[in-house]
Amino acid sequence: MVAVSLSRALLVAGAFARLGLAQTEPTILAEDGSVLTANESTVAPAAEPEVVEDVGEVLLLTDAVLANLTAHDLSDIDLFTFDEEVAGTSAKRSLGRGFKVGDCKVFPGDRAWPSRLSWTVFDLLTGGALIETVPIGAVCYPNSGVYNAAKCQNVLANWAQSSLHASDPTSVMSPLYQGETCMPQNGQSGTCEMGSFPSYSVKIRNVYQVQLAVNFARNQNLRLVVHNTGHDFLGKSTGAGALSIWTHNLKDIQHIKSFRSASYNGPALRLGAGVQVGELYAAANKLGVTAVGGECAGVGVAGGYLAGGGHSPLSGKYGLGSDQVLSIDVVLPNGRFVTASESKNTDLFWALRGGGGGTFGVVTSITVKAHPKQKFAGFSWSLAAGPESENSIAVFWQAMYAYWRKFPQYAAKGVYGYSTIFPLFTAAGGYSWTFHPFMMPDMTLAQFKAEIKPLLDEWTAMGLVFTPNYFEKNSLHEVWTQYFPAESVANSNLRTASRLFPASVWNNPTNRDALFDEVRAIVEEGSALIQYNMNPRQTPGTPNSAANSHWRDSVWFAIMGSGWAPGTAGAELAAVNNKITHNWMARLRAWGPGAYGNEGDVMEPNFGQAFFGTNYQRLLNIKREVDPNDLFWAPTAVGAERWTIQGQPSYLTTQVGKLCKISN
Ligand SMILES: Cc1cc2nc3c(=O)[nH]c(=O)nc-3n(C[C@H](O)[C@H](O)[C@H](O)COP(=O)(O)OP(=O)(O)OC[C@H]3O[C@@H](n4cnc5c(N)ncnc54)[C@H](O)[C@@H]3O)c2cc1C
Ligand SMILES: *[C@@H]1O[C@H](CO)[C@@H](O)[C@H](O)[C@H]1NC(C)=O
Ligand SMILES: *[C@@H]1O[C@H](CO)[C@@H](O)[C@H](O)[C@H]1NC(C)=O
Repeated sequence: MVAVSLSRALLVAGAFARLGLAQTEPTILAEDGSVLTANESTVAPAAEPEVVEDVGEVLLLTDAVLANLTAHDLSDIDLFTFDEEVAGTSAKRSLGRGFKVGDCKVFPGDRAWPSRLSWTVFDLLTGGALIETVPIGAVCYPNSGVYNAAKCQNVLANWAQSSLHASDPTSVMSPLYQGETCMPQNGQSGTCEMGSFPSYSVKIRNVYQVQLAVNFARNQNLRLVVHNTGHDFLGKSTGAGALSIWTHNLKDIQHIKSFRSASYNGPALRLGAGVQVGELYAAANKLGVTAVGGECAGVGVAGGYLAGGGHSPLSGKYGLGSDQVLSIDVVLPNGRFVTASESKNTDLFWALRGGGGGTFGVVTSITVKAHPKQKFAGFSWSLAAGPESENSIAVFWQAMYAYWRKFPQYAAKGVYGYSTIFPLFTAAGGYSWTFHPFMMPDMTLAQFKAEIKPLLDEWTAMGLVFTPNYFEKNSLHEVWTQYFPAESVANSNLRTASRLFPASVWNNPTNRDALFDEVRAIVEEGSALIQYNMNPRQTPGTPNSAANSHWRDSVWFAIMGSGWAPGTAGAELAAVNNKITHNWMARLRAWGPGAYGNEGDVMEPNFGQAFFGTNYQRLLNIKREVDPNDLFWAPTAVGAERWTIQGQPSYLTTQVGKLCKISN
């Protein structure tokens, strides 16, 4: 440790005060006591390598690093200290004052907003990882200062591709919650506004950068968001005036030949927080194993997906994505880096598996089970129904009911039946029905065909015209690359909601058919239907977790929703939005009280019960303990009901205003 004379430091600060100068450039004391400008050649990133049990060497922000920089009197270094009160290591109080009802997180323009100098110091400590937000659409606005016709054309051409958004620090794939204030446009006028984009992001490559961001946001009472790919359907990975922790570049995938815990002994994969589904599947395929992930290539596996539970083509066999988790490395709200597993920080381990993203800390890596390769048989097809199609609407619904009736039976076989029903936007109208696909694990094609023969016979007898494209494949990777759809994202003016329907509904045919009638009516009223027939039951030997208890007996996961025409505003806009929450979902709640939080309605009343089921109270208790001042907040995250966004409409959260506390 370097000893620096305190009087010298006081002298320097005093000199500024005497001259009445606001210090604009940060300073640091050299070994000889001279005052230097703090810049990348005089301030090293605030990190030191440490060997962490079960993790290996990690670059960490430590007490020793902070003490050194304090001894060198680096400007504003006290803004980066750990929360000792919560860590329980000393009596030192955190700088963050805590929040009372009515208080808001500090917002750009507030007196308490960090000075330019503080941001400069922050950037230096992170090794130059701080990014000031430029909205992705800004290159399309002639008056934005960053207008660039070629870049704009690229943004416009790739807008529906998730990779465009995932590689941008702040772009989100549901622009609705961003406020749609800087949509890319072709040659029109208008002004690109920040809307709910965060003010700054930190491009994370190492754990110490996460720790600095967490400490800085907490000590300065800033709004904090965690942003990985931006897939979130509820606006959870954005927020006006926030500091955003951008985890997308944590791409390590490590093969662990033998992972041992009380409940598991076998191969595993350690995934950086930024690993995406396609990257995981490719790595697993190369290693000759199967990993559990979602259906779309771009979703962040170790980010929001596993945190929120995660359903998978393998869910019928292995349960939820979060059921595969063996160990989680996380930076807590107090700034400390810990590992949570079956034997360490067990409450946290329970909560992080299904308790939702952006709530308990920032996950930096996750270790998951690797399963053996397995075969699948199934089919995909697409058909149309309507006055101008090969199938009549009547036959279409008859066929749908016949299919729905078999859901519990197929779920028992480990099925993954993924299909979508969309209205046909033709003058005559009608529907499209596409399977992406319908498949069962561990079956030959002959076995699969025998399993579904009764349904196909019924369909044929009804006169349904359909052409199955059958397959039998030796690995998930082969099916997934050939039979799953490419994701298309970033539609504007689109809102979704969902329900989980338990198998018990099927016990009473009258009640069951009443549910079918209701779903049919809602589709007839204009909703899309994205449906999954599967049962992610908890498999024997999997430790109990916070994943939504409603998943466990569900056999039908239905996503519904609707869009509206550009320019819809006022009462009309309120009405479309209210219809989704207070009419469509309300009508289905009697059969499906639960819903999937990762693909749910951001306005779901009583979201704690719907998205977390019987786990909600325990999750609230853990949230209080780990994050007593709600450093982490996201709409519908555990504890979210204690805060609100100022100025948002009653029918939709937008994330555009200040985040303020409304209750304890
Ligand atoms: C096209 C598409 C397909 C999808 N397919 C599936 C599917 O097959 N199965 C399924 O279960 N879901 C699916 N989803 C939903 C998906 O699981 C969620 O959108 C999920 O939240 C995405 O996580 P992300 O990290 O990629 O996204 P982000 O929007 O970046 O983050 C989502 C949430 O997780 C938090 N978060 C992200 N990283 C971290 C971290 N390291 N630590 C703490 N919090 C973090 C964020 O703060 C935010 O609250 C799909 C979504 C889309 C748009
Ligand atoms: C950083 O500050 C030092 C000391 O004041 C100065 O000599 C050097 O030129 C600066 N370097 C840069 C890159 O600005
Ligand atoms: C202490 O901080 C100074 C200034 O950033 C740096 O040059 C030095 O390497 C640090 N020493 C230790 C032991 O971390």
